[in-house]
Amino acid sequence: MKHFLKLLDVSGEQIIELLNTADQLKYEKKHGIEHQRLKGKTLGMIFQKSSTRTRVSFETGIYQLGGTGLFLSSNDLQIGRGEPVRDTARVLSRYLDGIMIRTFAQKEVEDLAEYGSIPVINGLTDFAHPCQVMADLMTIREYKGGFSGLKMCYIGDGNNMANSLIVGGLKVGMKVAVATPADHKPDEKVLEFAKGYGDMFELTENIMDAACKADVVFTDVWASMGMEKEAEERKKVFAGYQVNSELLSVCAKDVMVQHCLPAHRGEEISEEVFEAHADEIFDEAENRLHAQKAIMVKLMEDK
Ligand code: CP
Ligand code: NVA
Repeated sequence: MKHFLKLLDVSGEQIIELLNTADQLKYEKKHGIEHQRLKGKTLGMIFQKSSTRTRVSFETGIYQLGGTGLFLSSNDLQIGRGEPVRDTARVLSRYLDGIMIRTFAQKEVEDLAEYGSIPVINGLTDFAHPCQVMADLMTIREYKGGFSGLKMCYIGDGNNMANSLIVGGLKVGMKVAVATPADHKPDEKVLEFAKGYGDMFELTENIMDAACKADVVFTDVWASMGMEKEAEERKKVFAGYQVNSELLSVCAKDVMVQHCLPAHRGEEISEEVFEAHADEIFDEAENRLHAQKAIMVKLMEDK
């Protein structure tokens, strides 16, 4: 594995291997065991969108592994003034050992990987949020002990989170059911991929059908970063797509609720459900740190 750009590129076996490393790194961190596996390495972190979790967990993660993280805001980089990605990639490859990028177009991340010579990690695009889904899968395995026989459900916008959850969930052997409004389905490429999994995948407009007997329920904001102007309009479109206690009543008795955060209580999730499942949601947020450390070790160690 040279890059971590989207889960479509990663096999189920590779996902499990990364999760095993993440569990080990979490254990070592909790037990004060030295794990400076990236001593002397530098990760550049390019942000063209806001972030709390991704920025802090990558920066802390590389530091815990013995390396250094450089926060590179697109407001300050020449990329923000139009320097081509293919030149930026070639320059940064001369200084850094890895790049994490959060941006809009998936193509920008793919170009960075193509033109540079160092590993590139996708820290969120409009198409995918693969690092988040690694943390999500890690959390599911911690709570449920495995994946086989479990049903994942996603309610809301067919956005970057929906795309990555569908691919990640199916690749590790879960059933995946998604409910979105008709005009807000997940990406065509992802639906094409999911077709290959037959009745392990279900796409519906009906939230109760999707949630029926689900073991894990996911949701995400109705307006992703970059959609600020449409946010009010989207509230009307997604009004029926809320994770609340009525929805959970049709799920498995011990259903988990996950949210990548930030959450908009009263929109995609009710205050009551959010707070009742806060431990699971904040474990999920913590696991960003461990899962991303595993990704950095895999891509940047011994390179
Ligand atoms: N979940 C997530 O990626 O959070 P940030 O936008 O705060 O990084
Ligand atoms: N779908 C959201 C995820 C935020 C972590 C967005 O892209 O803004």
